[in-house]
Amino acid sequence: MPPEAPRRPTRALSGIQPTGRFHWGNYFGAIRQYIDLQPGAHQAADEAYYFIADLHALTTVRDPARLRSLVHAAAVDLVALGLDPDRAVLYVQSDVPEVTELTWLLMTVTPMGLLERCHAYKDKKSRGLPADAGLFTYPVLMAADILAYDATVVPVGEDQVQHIEVCRDLAGTFNHLYGDVFTLPKPRLVEGGAKVPGTDGQKMSKSYENTIEVFEDLAAQKKKIMRITTDSRPMEEPKDPEGDHLFELFALMAPETDRAKMADLYRRGGFGYGEVKKALVEAAAAFFADARARRAELEADPARIEAILAAGAAKARAKAGEVLGRARRACGLARGETMVSGGKGGHS
Ligand code: ADP
Ligand code: TRP
Repeated sequence: MPPEAPRRPTRALSGIQPTGRFHWGNYFGAIRQYIDLQPGAHQAADEAYYFIADLHALTTVRDPARLRSLVHAAAVDLVALGLDPDRAVLYVQSDVPEVTELTWLLMTVTPMGLLERCHAYKDKKSRGLPADAGLFTYPVLMAADILAYDATVVPVGEDQVQHIEVCRDLAGTFNHLYGDVFTLPKPRLVEGGAKVPGTDGQKMSKSYENTIEVFEDLAAQKKKIMRITTDSRPMEEPKDPEGDHLFELFALMAPETDRAKMADLYRRGGFGYGEVKKALVEAAAAFFADARARRAELEADPARIEAILAAGAAKARAKAGEVLGRARRACGLARGETMVSGGKGGHS
């Protein structure tokens, strides 16, 4: 039998912006997938790196106290939700300055036209809003975020796929010019790719003010749930659960048997949406009960989160330093260092 080719290690990496507290869309659309990719989990990668993208958030959050508090809350939330710092590297983007230096190297191979086509900038411009260079060059920073760690798989929502393409483009150009420096990553979309609906039925998003936050106070959460918009069909009329946003939310959180029962209730008719909302209030509280308890413990011990982030930053810096060194040597910086260690070894 021919010898098997050695399996290439997989490294998952993703970042999430601390521009607000996490909502159900962020959890089911992104965070849950990060957790599933941690080593030891059911879809595990060999390694996982997750970070809080505070440099990216600077293009929208201009209040320093708020930014600091959102970064801390994001770290607590992620750990409470199941991100395990013993299995994944958890860090804050700005704690790894190597990434910003790498951003510059990549900027020198970035065509303006490529960035002009990117949606974050294009959307703002088309709405007549002023855009800064930070927003314009945001995809280059994101490329550096990914390339600095030799990431192979990047779990993201559909809105970020374009940025992964930019990342691959820049890595390809750099490698073409200077040799085999960067590992080309692949995006990984959430299974099913479904969008979590907000309280008004459109995609849940901070920008639409239709979010339900994962850790908001239960009484406030209940009020929001009771106000979810519904259609005005009479109670007696049977309804199709598929495509009903209230049912979709319930289905995300309820155990399988309750989900099937609720779907039957919809098809039979003769019930009010108020009942479904009450069931959703309970399902959500039960689904996140353990995470809430963990969050309360973590909140009582802020030094613990800071220690987790410091350890994460140290690991992240070690890896990013290695890749940045490779890139610096390849393009003619790093005078005095030899080119001998310029290749990327086993990660190609
Ligand atoms: P927001 O739209 O509230 O500003 P972000 O753009 O910061 O949220 O999203 C962070 C991550 O959460 C991204 O990976 C994004 O795809 C995912 N996400 C956000 N909202 C939803 C949603 N309603 N359904 C599925 N995934 C979502
Ligand atoms: N731009 C991403 C978002 O808004 C966050 C992000 C920054 C990211 N750097 C990244 C995601 C690197 C994946 C990989 O959701």
